[in-house]
Amino acid sequence: MERTLIADLRQHIGEEVKIQGWLQVLRDQKKMQFLVVRDTTGAAQVAFWKGNDAALAERISALTTESALTITGSVVDNPVVKLGGLEIQLQTVEVNNLAENPMPFEPYGDTLPQLDFRQDWRSIDLRRKENLLLFQVQTTAEAAMREFWVNNRFIEIHTPKIISTPSESGAELFTIDYFDRKAYLAQSPQFYKQMAMSAGFERVFEFGPVFRADPSFTSRHMTEFTGVDMEISWVESHEDVMVMQERWLQFVYQRVKDVHGEQIQEVFGHEMIVPSLPFPRIPMAEAVEILKSRGYQLPADKKGDIDPGGEREIAAYVMEKYNHEFVFLTDWPIAVRPFYHMRHPDNPGLTRSYDLIACGLEITTGAQREHRPDILAKQALEKGLHLEPIQFYLDFFRYGCPPHGGFGLGLSRLLMVMLGLNNIRETVFLFRGPTRLTP
Ligand code: 4AD
Ligand code: MG
Repeated sequence: MERTLIADLRQHIGEEVKIQGWLQVLRDQKKMQFLVVRDTTGAAQVAFWKGNDAALAERISALTTESALTITGSVVDNPVVKLGGLEIQLQTVEVNNLAENPMPFEPYGDTLPQLDFRQDWRSIDLRRKENLLLFQVQTTAEAAMREFWVNNRFIEIHTPKIISTPSESGAELFTIDYFDRKAYLAQSPQFYKQMAMSAGFERVFEFGPVFRADPSFTSRHMTEFTGVDMEISWVESHEDVMVMQERWLQFVYQRVKDVHGEQIQEVFGHEMIVPSLPFPRIPMAEAVEILKSRGYQLPADKKGDIDPGGEREIAAYVMEKYNHEFVFLTDWPIAVRPFYHMRHPDNPGLTRSYDLIACGLEITTGAQREHRPDILAKQALEKGLHLEPIQFYLDFFRYGCPPHGGFGLGLSRLLMVMLGLNNIRETVFLFRGPTRLTP
């Protein structure tokens, strides 16, 4: 018999079906047994009258919650049943895998252990309805991102993650043994998405792993994360990149809200707001003044950068003034930006760059890039880089490279914001941090 998904049971009233899933609840009563069985599409009640078959009833009594089961039975309409107004009258049950009892914790139990413990048992933790929904949302979001790009002439690329030289700061680099020399894990597809501009692809995107040897233990940092990157040619400034990003994000939000909005409200108690266009833009110099006027003290060592508290304070200001969850902070000082960001012709102390802050969290850094090889080399030297290791990169710009820009977005950070969650470790399939390498 073919398997029926639980969400489709209503189309099978009066028929015999086979369902497969996990035993969420077993209520073993005097005369009846009720099982709640769950698959990724929903949950259904299964009923068995013990008098029908005492031996089978005994086997059912021995079932443990979260066991993986295959059940056959007939579907009957039953308006009093809360789960979909129907139930399955059990005929057979096959135990595909009996869950040990007790489990480390019950994913559908009343109490939730600490995050760290749940991470140890992530395969069980992921069974919770919050997590199922989260990864369904992520799937919809990624599909919408790709759809928007494909509809707008973008080409998907996959760049190497084993690299010979860092593209961002040398400080956050994982070194690996590569035969008889050292190599690094990619901190960003930065150099190679720019190579695609030189290669004449004009518009590219990539979903891929990003590695950062960042020893921080914050609620928004991981040592490995999924980066969503894009790069476009023929831009006039970073404004063109921001326009592309805000349209893209609005499309993604609209799609996720259409598909999952109600369930997100139900499961996370969070209302998704599809952002209006354009997103507010605030130059960094102005942002610093705004923070000052609101009595927010930026740490002295930040020198033109902004700290997480400052990001939240700016977000509060933008919410009050523009009623918007997003804000582009633009035109950052060169001291806090990488060498490849283009500088303002009339103010070489500033870059044509931006960060996108969403609900007080940085989710993106973007910029127009310097595509003129002589200026690029000069900027690299100024930042104390040696030219020899990046010569292959500088070569990209020697034979007809158009002006271009792009951004990198952290997928899990976007999910945090979309679903109103406050720890990145809750939004990634498996967290990697300085002290976590398993499971
Ligand atoms: O801001 P970042 O470091 O920018 C770049 O990598 C540039 N190459 C992007 C560009 O095209 N100019 O990283 C991009 C985004 C951040 O805004 C943040 O969302 C996420 O990646 N991110 C992290 N997410 C989780 N854990 C970390 N340690 C992260 N570091 C950055
Ligand atoms: Mg950044």
